[in-house]
Amino acid sequence: MTGQALMSNGSGIVIFGGTGDLAYRKLFPALYNLHVLEELPTDYQIIGIGRRDYSRWDYLTIVKEWLQKYSRVKYLEERFTDFSERIHYYKMDFDKAEQYPDLLAYFDEIKLQGEVIFYYAVAPQYFLPITKNLSIRNCRLRECKVIVEKPFGDDLTSAHALSKELKQSFLPGHVYYIDHYLGKEMILNIMTIRFFNSIFKGVWNKDFIESVQINAFETVGVESRGGYYDESGALRDMMQNHLFQILSIVAMEEPTAMESEEIKAAQLKVFQDLKPIVPTEIGKHLVLGQYAGYRQEDKVAPDSQTETYAAMKLLIDNERWQGVPFYIRTGKKLFSRESEVIIQFKQTAKEAEGNILIIKIQPDEGVYLKFNIKKPGKENGVQVVKMDFCQSCILENRINTPEAYERLLKACMNSDQSLFSKWDQIELCWNFIDQAIDSYQKYSGALYPYQAGTAGPKEADHLLLHDQHYWIEAEMFLEG
Ligand code: BG6
Repeated sequence: MTGQALMSNGSGIVIFGGTGDLAYRKLFPALYNLHVLEELPTDYQIIGIGRRDYSRWDYLTIVKEWLQKYSRVKYLEERFTDFSERIHYYKMDFDKAEQYPDLLAYFDEIKLQGEVIFYYAVAPQYFLPITKNLSIRNCRLRECKVIVEKPFGDDLTSAHALSKELKQSFLPGHVYYIDHYLGKEMILNIMTIRFFNSIFKGVWNKDFIESVQINAFETVGVESRGGYYDESGALRDMMQNHLFQILSIVAMEEPTAMESEEIKAAQLKVFQDLKPIVPTEIGKHLVLGQYAGYRQEDKVAPDSQTETYAAMKLLIDNERWQGVPFYIRTGKKLFSRESEVIIQFKQTAKEAEGNILIIKIQPDEGVYLKFNIKKPGKENGVQVVKMDFCQSCILENRINTPEAYERLLKACMNSDQSLFSKWDQIELCWNFIDQAIDSYQKYSGALYPYQAGTAGPKEADHLLLHDQHYWIEAEMFLEG
C-alpha cells in the first residue's frame, strides 16, 4: 500500500458536524480521495455525527452526491461502494452531556478500537461543550487526537478558555488547529519561491518592495452558513486566520532551518512585530463592508451589522519591513473567486514601471512577473512585458496535487503538526484583531454597502490613496 498513513487499523474519524457544509464539501471528498489512492488504513471507519434524523442509507446518498460534485479524483461507483462500507451516521445533540455514554457504547458496537480523531466541524460555540463532554472518554489515557476548525473561539477570551479545556482533555501535541490555507499548494510554495531563488531572496525587503497586497476573494455568499457567519464575519472567518497566516509566510525572516518548529518561530515573530494600530486612526487601517442582500439571507439577522468584506492596512515594525504597507482584503460576493499575493516592487526610473510579482494561489496556481524591456525596434522607449507560469495548467499537476484537506488529514494521521497553526500564533492574531474590532466600533463603526459582483466598497480605496497606492487588480495583468 503506497504512502499509507500511520493511523492503525480499527481506527476512525469522528466528525462533529457530519451533516454540515464543511463535511460534505471538503472532508468527505478528501477522505474519499485518500481512500481511492490507498493512503488510509484498510480497516478504518468514519462516523458523521449530526442532529438530523437520517438513516445510514439517507446519509450515504447525500455523501455520494457531494462526492460526485467535489471529488478531485474521478468518482467511481465501485470505489464508492467500498468507501461507503466504512461510513456511519450517528444522531445526537452534541451539546448534551447525557448523550455521550451512548456515543461511547456505539464506538464499542462498531469496534472502533484504535486511534480516534475527533474533528470539530461545527460552529465555534460548540467546541467547548464538546470538549467537556468528551472528557468521559479519557482522551489523555487513550489514543485520541482532535482537529479544531477555525475560528478558534470568537475572541481572545473565548480562545483562551477553549485552549485551557483542550489542554486538560488531550495530551500535548494531540490538538491540531487546522487552517486549511496552510495546506494549499501555492501557500506551501511561497517559501520556496522566496528563499530558493536569489533573484527574489535578495530583494525581499523595504529597499526594493513598495507594497504587498494579499487578496482572498469569493464569489459565493454565505450559502447555508448564515447562522455561523452572522456571528463571525469576515474578520474572524478569514482575516484572523487565513490571511494572517499568508502574511506571516510572506513577511517572515528566513527560518534557521526549513523545519516545522523553526518555520513556526519565524511566523510568530511577524505577529509579534505587527505595529499596533492607534485606535483613533483605525479608519486609515480598516474598512468593513456588507453586500446588498446579505440581511435577507437565511439565518441572518434582518438588521445585521456583520461585515462580509474587510480590507486592512498593516505595518510590520522591524528592520526588513519598516514603512512597507501590507494591504490585505477579503470578501464574499465579489467579482471573482481568486486568492493571490502581489508584490509591488519600487520603480527604478521615472520612465519604467515597478516590477510586479504575483503568486497565484487559486483558482489558478502559478507565478506571474511583470518587468521592463526596451521597446523592440528603432524606438528607445520602455515596454512592460510579462512572464506567466501557470502551474495548474499542466495536466499532470492538476491530477497529482492533493487538496488542502487531504494533505492536512493525512498529516494529522501521521502525527505531523508542521502544517497546522500553533496556539501562540492564534493568541497573537486574536489579540490584534480584537483590538482592531474594538477601535473600529469606537472610532468608525462604518459598514459600507457594496453590490454583489463588484470589488467591494469604494471606501477601501482610501486605505491606499493615503499612501498614493492603489489596489492592483491581478486579473488586469493575468489576462493582459
Ligand atoms: C473557510 C471560511 O475557512 O474558508 C469560508 O469559513 C470560506 O467562509 C472558505 O468560504 C474559503 O476557502 P477556499 O479554500 O474555498 O478559499
